Amino acid sequence: MEELIKVTNLVKEFPVRSGLFDRSRKGGDVVHAVDDVSFTIHRGEVLGLAGESGSGKSTTGRLLTRLMDPTSGTVMYGGKDLATIGRVEMRSLRPRLQMVFQDPNGSLSPRMTVGQAITHPLSIHGILDPAERRAAVLSLMEKVGLAPAEFLYRKYPHQISGGQCQRVVIARALVTNPEFLVADEPIAMADVSVRALVMELLKRLKDEMGMTYLFITHDLATAKYLCDRVAIMYLGRIVEIAPKKDLFSHPHHPYTKALLHAVPVPDPDRRRTEEVARGEIPSAIHPPAGCHFHPRCPRARPECSAARPPLRDVGAGHLSACLFDD
Ligand SMILES: Nc1ncnc2c1ncn2[C@@H]1O[C@H](COP(=O)(O)OP(=O)(O)OP(=O)(O)O)[C@@H](O)[C@H]1O
Ligand SMILES: [Mg+2]
Repeated sequence: MEELIKVTNLVKEFPVRSGLFDRSRKGGDVVHAVDDVSFTIHRGEVLGLAGESGSGKSTTGRLLTRLMDPTSGTVMYGGKDLATIGRVEMRSLRPRLQMVFQDPNGSLSPRMTVGQAITHPLSIHGILDPAERRAAVLSLMEKVGLAPAEFLYRKYPHQISGGQCQRVVIARALVTNPEFLVADEPIAMADVSVRALVMELLKRLKDEMGMTYLFITHDLATAKYLCDRVAIMYLGRIVEIAPKKDLFSHPHHPYTKALLHAVPVPDPDRRRTEEVARGEIPSAIHPPAGCHFHPRCPRARPECSAARPPLRDVGAGHLSACLFDD
């Protein structure tokens, strides 16, 4: 299968400002938001990216769509290095690389109607003429469950529900027919019925249009429904990446196991094994040495704090950054 996205040794650090006067201070503390991450996404594939809050998922999404430049490392898109693409070429690439942001309310302008918001990407990229745009937007709105479309087209974000806002954000990302979509927690703000609709919509995009996307979530159950492969992120690093089936049936990394144990179990007779990660997620400013997870890991050994464990193949493309096989 063709590689659409190839990420190599990607790093993103944010400087930490501790006061008003040290903005230009060199050598100050940094947040290691993305800490040397490599992976690929094949055309037509949905890769899930899961992990606790602050693990660097959204930052990874922003780097992949070039909404942010990396501190180092590369993102190749269809064989081209995103960092070397010039302004003009980036303008034509932009509609093909879209991102659904995590906070739907924050990403919609209160002064734009639903229709204007969804049409906006078409206008700025000069796609279709105005009459065609309106027809395309109305038809897309129906498809994503924003019905009656004519009625909702004229509404402002404060006049529609949170779940509808969520779908507006998704429609706006889809209107240019992107080739690659980063969906950042697209259902986090929605209620249960809207979640099911949005999940079904995303599944349809994958099955019918063969769309490629990175699906960011902290909910492993939704990743299980939608993704072909799943990557687990912890404090800026990918600690495990595997085909969905392998990851859920044979998780290798103790952090993945802890996350899976934290997923609610519907059977009241089945007791949860108390292997859930202990303690708070450590700071991304001063992460623990070696394996970032070792202070919370039930299996930690002295080697774990000595050096960063590499992602290694533990079977048929199943990669894990744990030194031990149980
Ligand atoms: N623009 C920024 N400036 C400074 N620090 C940032 C910025 N964006 C993110 N960070 C920091 O980088 C780390 C990773 O953040 P990120 O938003 O990528 O995490 P996340 O996995 O998406 O979390 P969540 O599940 O809460 O959305 C966090 O420690 C965060 O505080
Ligand atoms: Mg996020």
